[in-house]
Amino acid sequence: MTTLKNDTFLRALMRQPTEYTPTWLMRQAGRYLPEYCATRARAGSFLDLCKSPSLATEVTLQPLARYGLDAAILFSDILTVPDAMGLGLYFAEGEGPKFERPLRDEWEIRDLAAPDPHDKLRYVIDAVSEIRKALDGSVPLIGFSGSPFTLSCYMIEGQGSDTYAKVKKLMYARPDLMHHILDVTTTAVIDYLNAQIEAGAQAVMVFDSWGGMLSQAAYLEFSLPYMARIMAGLTREREGRVVPRIVFTKGGGLWLDQIANCGADAVGLDWAIDIGEARKLAGDRVALQGNMDPFILLTTPEAVSAEARRVLASYGKGSGHVFNLGHGISQFTPPENVAALVETVKAESPQYHR
Ligand code: CP3
Repeated sequence: MTTLKNDTFLRALMRQPTEYTPTWLMRQAGRYLPEYCATRARAGSFLDLCKSPSLATEVTLQPLARYGLDAAILFSDILTVPDAMGLGLYFAEGEGPKFERPLRDEWEIRDLAAPDPHDKLRYVIDAVSEIRKALDGSVPLIGFSGSPFTLSCYMIEGQGSDTYAKVKKLMYARPDLMHHILDVTTTAVIDYLNAQIEAGAQAVMVFDSWGGMLSQAAYLEFSLPYMARIMAGLTREREGRVVPRIVFTKGGGLWLDQIANCGADAVGLDWAIDIGEARKLAGDRVALQGNMDPFILLTTPEAVSAEARRVLASYGKGSGHVFNLGHGISQFTPPENVAALVETVKAESPQYHR
């Protein structure tokens, strides 16, 4: 077994006893931190930052230096995978991610192939190794990927969208083509996450950011089965220890019962569902990660503390809770409010574990 000074996060994901509720935050390394903005400026752009293993390592460690967080998450982006498939990722200043060559024609979809992660995504795998070395056993490292459905959304639209009309049109008119994209992307994600695990990721998370905009029938056909296939294809143990898996469908609260059966060890929750209700529904099948509304962090340390206490109380006594936000932290978050959050969970959560 690897010696980890703090394995609280890994134990909570497996619903084993812990002394307190571990915390990490989605997008914990990001623009709300001045030191992140400084490193990003030195890198030149967000993509240059992702593509430099040493700078990616630097920003991964920044939130850990400030706060008593219980896990590090690889600094990268979910869209590196479609980029490696040849779609040409770029970020137009202030506009979010875009692709130069989105999937438009049937032949482009038929030509799609899963990339070798050790070739086109070498920079991510190198970042994982470098971050693991730099962490030196302090806290576990989370690897991640987008879900096949969420990646397909960007690959088809070529950018984010309010309605995902192009995706839905393809999905309803040509389900065969949609399933083909999902099938290839699923293989890509399995290979990519297994390469991250091999390089040192100690837990993995699949981000299904757009699954929640589907109907239940469509979610159960086009998103969840592919995440279940990923769960079945992942390396289960590494360095003598289980590598826990987390799935997060934003807007997926209605389908928690089905999600809890997909083979994940933990389910991420957005802020819409009450975490106590979610726990009743999930029973002893999975751990839960979440689920404070990130926008509470725009207020005051007192309001943040009160909301963190409410979430802890709602989950209640016992293990199986990883404290997190319901989605990524806003770039307008005052860093001192994050300190209040992390300190509150450290101080208030032990009573739920006695
Ligand atoms: O959580 C972490 O700290 C790890 C790093 C991480 C990033 N993106 C860094 C990032 C992770 C896990 C992601 C995942 C990601 N990327 C998702 C899934 C999670 C979610 O938010 O639903 C999605 C949909 C993306 C695609 C993406 N990347 C978008 C829509 C944007 C623009 C958002 C924005 O705030 O401008 C990005 C860019 C991005 N990814 C940033 C960061 C820190 C901001 C880039 C910058 O520095 O300008």
